[in-house]
Amino acid sequence: MTREEITKIRQDAELLITSAKSLPELEQIRIKLLGRKGELTLILRGLSSLPIDARKEIGFLANQTKEQLSVLLESRKVEFEKELETAAAEERIDVTLPGRQLWKGTKHPITQTMNEILEIFMGMGFQEELGPEIETEWYNYDALNFPPDHPARDMIACFQLGNGYLLRSHTSPVQIRVMEKKKPPVRIVAPGRCFRPDAFDASHSPVFYQVEGLYVDEGVSMADLKGTLEVFCKEMFGEKTKARFSPSYFPFTEPSAEVAISCVVCGGSGCKTCKSSGWLEILGSGMVNPKVLENVGYDSVKYTGFAFGMGIERVAMIKYGIDDIRLFYDNDLRFLEQF
Ligand code: PHE
Repeated sequence: MTREEITKIRQDAELLITSAKSLPELEQIRIKLLGRKGELTLILRGLSSLPIDARKEIGFLANQTKEQLSVLLESRKVEFEKELETAAAEERIDVTLPGRQLWKGTKHPITQTMNEILEIFMGMGFQEELGPEIETEWYNYDALNFPPDHPARDMIACFQLGNGYLLRSHTSPVQIRVMEKKKPPVRIVAPGRCFRPDAFDASHSPVFYQVEGLYVDEGVSMADLKGTLEVFCKEMFGEKTKARFSPSYFPFTEPSAEVAISCVVCGGSGCKTCKSSGWLEILGSGMVNPKVLENVGYDSVKYTGFAFGMGIERVAMIKYGIDDIRLFYDNDLRFLEQF
């Protein structure tokens, strides 16, 4: 072992250390030099076999070299660690990157329309009630004065589930459930899903939404019905909206009235939307049939009431100018995002 050899080891090592590209690479260099079987370690261990003079000189030089290289290794290691730290810190949040678009959810147009309808009636003192989607013949038909085997049952045909159960074909059964529970005054709105074996086309869906309304108390009159629904039409479709009441028929109301509003597109002069009539039908209504009041044990001499029911999809279609009910159920974001 000579001075030159140690100097060569040092020079090579210095070059390797300064050009090392990573912490693992640096660690490999350290092991090769100073590890248990490292070049310098072996030299230092072999000192005892050298003649005494050489031992002193080479020992000093080898120890010095070990010292220097250790310092160099350590400083490179610190450099690498700092680099890693800054790289990690930069990666965490790069505030210069343009932001990613976040998808913001909105309420479905049917939900929005339903909430709007409910809010208008709640502002007039109505309270929200809910009923089950699976009903019995009694609630869906009998208690509402649909005679057995009468064609009126087909007017609001339903999906039968067997054992006397069916999917409700309108929200009117909620009228009965509420009146069975409470004494008058009753003033409720009942939103919910309804089911009818209809074709799925531009204006029909086998599953759809309705809002039912019911007000029963002493002295409730047709004037209350008209006033309440006129306010609703104006608040829902705009101040200029007119409401038209025309005779209709439902087994559970007598008299019954179909309500139409002046066309939201042409204002009543006649256009494609209103099929040149100037009017758009939006709901069914009427004075609660005394037989219905008696079916729930109310005194039909003392109490009178009115009821109404409307399709939420229909209201939303008129309000937003939508010509196909199926758009509500397609879940196409291009449609939904517009609300
Ligand atoms: N239930 C009726 C329908 O679905 C609507 C209605 C409700 C009519 C209340 C009058 C009174 O067509």
